[in-house]
Amino acid sequence: MARLEVAIGPITARNPIFSASGTYGHGLEMTGFTPIERLGGWVSKTVTLHPRHGNPAPRLCETEAGLINSIGLENKGIDHYVEHVLPTLVGIDSIVVTNIGGERDEELVELAARLDGQAEVDVLELNLSCPNVQDGKLPLATDPARSEAVVRRVREATTKPIWVKLTPNVTRIGDMAVAAEAGGADGITAVNTLLGLSVDWRSGRPGVATVQGGYSGPGIKPVALRSAWECAKRVSIPVVGVGGITSADDVLQFLAVGCAAVQVGTSAFSDPSRPGRLAEEVGALLDAAGIGDVRDVIGTIRDGR
Ligand code: DOR
Repeated sequence: MARLEVAIGPITARNPIFSASGTYGHGLEMTGFTPIERLGGWVSKTVTLHPRHGNPAPRLCETEAGLINSIGLENKGIDHYVEHVLPTLVGIDSIVVTNIGGERDEELVELAARLDGQAEVDVLELNLSCPNVQDGKLPLATDPARSEAVVRRVREATTKPIWVKLTPNVTRIGDMAVAAEAGGADGITAVNTLLGLSVDWRSGRPGVATVQGGYSGPGIKPVALRSAWECAKRVSIPVVGVGGITSADDVLQFLAVGCAAVQVGTSAFSDPSRPGRLAEEVGALLDAAGIGDVRDVIGTIRDGR
């Protein structure tokens, strides 16, 4: 079968398929569905400095073409993650990416510093783009100067590679990627969820408690693909594509526009074993196309219009 190993900067992954943040929780909840070793890597749900309860229910709504979530970064905080989650990942033969988030720059800096000495963590993914917690303020990843500044501060706090997760809810995502690279990011994750709204007109109130939430799933794939393409053209650090990927063909589309790897999220909600099967399916597609190495697809149509 075709070679599937990819390099994401200094990181080598056995295949280009990672689970997206929020898909498989904080630890190894996924192992019953997808042995982690079948993935190139695994990304944690966002970890914050303090425990968070998240937004009130209902906060998940299934639409015809994906999910709207208004989770609000529910998690048990960094102390719990370090004491109870990281020990379960010792010896895992896969890339471990810890996604960190917070509402103040200082929180992100402190999180990065806390995780710097943790051997199990291979990469920090900096979530500057959650659509659900800003209390009327825009996520950091909508402001290039603010993003660059916070990435620079986090960069100083850690020796780990940093991927910056961007939002599709901007007009010029390429500018955001350039700002993250200028701040010292080692990779770009493109993209987080698209702002959406679900309503039940009979109830007289919105279907997701906070009126709007992050929309994910097949409906956002063209937006995510264009975003990843734009980022890949603008930066020299690797881009990890995410948004609406459900099939091996989708994976190869993201690689073709220049992504070094991809993350899969919403399609695992209807079929939790799906991400674990994708690598084999990518291999089969490459074999059928007579391509012996997945790296030969990366960036093949990055420069087109
Ligand atoms: O859509 C999202 N939901 N994106 C995030 O970054 C976090 C998550 C949440 O917890 O609300």
